[in-house]
Amino acid sequence: MKDVWGKVQKEQVAQAEADLEAAEKQVKDTPMDKAATDARNDLKTKVEELKKDTKFERLKKEWLENDAYAADAYRLLRAPPGGKRLCLTCHTLGDVGIKNAPPLDQLSERLRPNWTLHWLGNPDPMFGYKPTMPAPLEKGDRDSQELFHGDALEELEAMRDAMLSYPRLANLPVNRHYRPVMTGTTPPK
Ligand code: HEC
Repeated sequence: MKDVWGKVQKEQVAQAEADLEAAEKQVKDTPMDKAATDARNDLKTKVEELKKDTKFERLKKEWLENDAYAADAYRLLRAPPGGKRLCLTCHTLGDVGIKNAPPLDQLSERLRPNWTLHWLGNPDPMFGYKPTMPAPLEKGDRDSQELFHGDALEELEAMRDAMLSYPRLANLPVNRHYRPVMTGTTPPK
């Protein structure tokens, strides 16, 4: 994770510095505006704190408080190989995966949350024909336990949530630099 924290931190510093520059300009343009001065001061403090935080404490805290679920769900969906639950051997997600089935990163507008959850729980009864897709979590098939701490339903819900808010999740700082290590299968194209 250390690499990732470092990259995210750098991005946050760059962003805060850009915001600070804009805020400085605002203060110059409207020197009597107290709100602008306050905003500038806050940003100044933020940049200093970010730069001081060489152990990424701030990021880690933020991650635990807000982003842990988003990160877990995202990693689950982009799960590295293990058992039958490798969505990316058939589907694509952004730049990874193999194109044998509909892409999973553009479902948010089309699929309803309930339908998607049922589909993941048991793809079979939902089609007139037998679908190609295996049920992700067949009995006893929970090879992803180390990726997600929850029961099977919660795990399916997490995958569902990750798919349906994929573009937003993929852009979160905790996820942006995550790439699954693909071993033991055809490498992603
Ligand atoms: C063996 C290949 C295979 C695997 C593995 C697989 N899928 Fe699928 N999936 C398909 C195919 C093919 C379809 C299209 C419907 C059908 O015929 O089964 C599909 C359809 C879907 C759909 C509906 C998409 C739509 O546009 O309607 C979702 C959602 C989905 N898969 C999610 C997943 C998730 C999440 C995983 C991993 C946990 C996964 N799939 C693993 C082959 C696969």
